[in-house]
Amino acid sequence: PQLLFYVACFVLAESKVANVNRHEARKFPDGMLLGAATASYQVEGAWDEDGKSENIWDTLTHREPCVIAECHNGDVADNSYHLYKRDVEMMRELGLDFYRFSLSWSRILPTSFPDKINEKGVEYYNNLIDEMLKYNIQPMVTLYHWDLPQKLQDMGGWANPHIVDWFTDYSRVAFELFGDRVKYWFTINEPREVCYQGYGSASMAPLFTMSGYADYICSKNLLVAHAKVYHMYNNEFRPTQGGTIGIVVSMKWYEPVSEEHAEAAEDLTQFEWGIYANPIFSKTGDFPQVMKEKVAAKSKAQGFPRSRLPEFTPEEIELVKGSSDFLAINHYTTNMVYRNESVFGYHASPSYYDDIDVILYTDSSWEGSASPWLKVIPWGFYKLLTKIREDYDNPTIFITENGFSTRQVLVDDDRVSYYRQYLDVMLDAIEDGSDIRVYTAWSLMDNFEWLQGYTQRFGLYEVDYESPDRTRTPRKAAYVYKEIIRSRTLDF
Ligand code: NOJ
Repeated sequence: PQLLFYVACFVLAESKVANVNRHEARKFPDGMLLGAATASYQVEGAWDEDGKSENIWDTLTHREPCVIAECHNGDVADNSYHLYKRDVEMMRELGLDFYRFSLSWSRILPTSFPDKINEKGVEYYNNLIDEMLKYNIQPMVTLYHWDLPQKLQDMGGWANPHIVDWFTDYSRVAFELFGDRVKYWFTINEPREVCYQGYGSASMAPLFTMSGYADYICSKNLLVAHAKVYHMYNNEFRPTQGGTIGIVVSMKWYEPVSEEHAEAAEDLTQFEWGIYANPIFSKTGDFPQVMKEKVAAKSKAQGFPRSRLPEFTPEEIELVKGSSDFLAINHYTTNMVYRNESVFGYHASPSYYDDIDVILYTDSSWEGSASPWLKVIPWGFYKLLTKIREDYDNPTIFITENGFSTRQVLVDDDRVSYYRQYLDVMLDAIEDGSDIRVYTAWSLMDNFEWLQGYTQRFGLYEVDYESPDRTRTPRKAAYVYKEIIRSRTLDF
């Protein structure tokens, strides 16, 4: 039966039968790169092997009583630390131009600092990179995808301004070790999730609930750390290594319930991702004006002697402004928004959302996924790409994540349909003039979906967590994506 399934998938993916609705196949622009992504903690496993030290996700997943769905953890995960050759084989099966993965800080630097480099950990990444390059698959490397060394967390993590130096020192080691072969670098993945979810809403490690305070401090430190690393690469490594580097921002589209609430949607947009994009991509080099005003006013009313939103010094503004070669976006979904000035019930005050005075929700009629937050709204992606083109003077865009979650299933028609619709509107935006160079499916394979463990599956390949060798099996979406990459067209 499995063989039959493969044959059926192949025939389906190859067939042009579905082409009836559209007259011509849409081409991807020449030179556009198509790939897939994962992140270290989500796939590597080997959590305590070969000298790796603990990071904040090791700590969180080992906490008792457990806080992760079904008490899952990433101790073994997809076992990619040992199965990297199979991972590269999958990349070849799909025909990927590139693979985006992240480095585990505590695997490379077990003390958190560069006083001791863990050769075994370095060897794993060298093997992975070399195996990919053997088949002409470009490595795209994220320096920080959420697995902070626990020791640095104990010293305050992203809320401690010394993180700027810690992150710079670690990044320097990564450039020195891998920069001869890695030409695409991402400093930090999804600052909003690091700061708001990690330090504000307790939905990512380290699960802190200090919204409206620690999340803002984290945001400032993170932007300065990113910018320092950008300039270090620019000055010390780019001249000889010749690569490109930027930051990855998660961006939803926020749709106002009516024209009357357009300002509310714009406010939320600025608080959610303008906070990271504005300092880097606008001419001000600063947090969005609306944030500065709103947080200052609320702080004053709450009796704080100064705004809870920290200020950048003039030197920091100069450092952060323009500190990215491209805008890398992770986009999945859309929310509806309306203005509401009453205080939120579930947040302690002060809180981030109290500062914004909005309510957001997903419409119950929207098609869903296995993740309650992820609804299928391709028009939101189109509107987002249009807004970025207009607000930030048409920057070069990399789509570093886009994808859909299901339960454990091989015939994933809903994922196929999601990818087709989102790629279709991306091509619309390119036709309108957006400068999109890279598209990345999340994910190459099922993996540890943070607090949701393995209950929500994003993979083009299914991973069998019951099998000792973590068997990977292509889903229907894998065959469709393979065909899209092979033909460089989006067939309907
Ligand atoms: C964004 C994150 O970067 C990734 O780690 C996560 O698994 C996906 N979104 C899906 O939620």
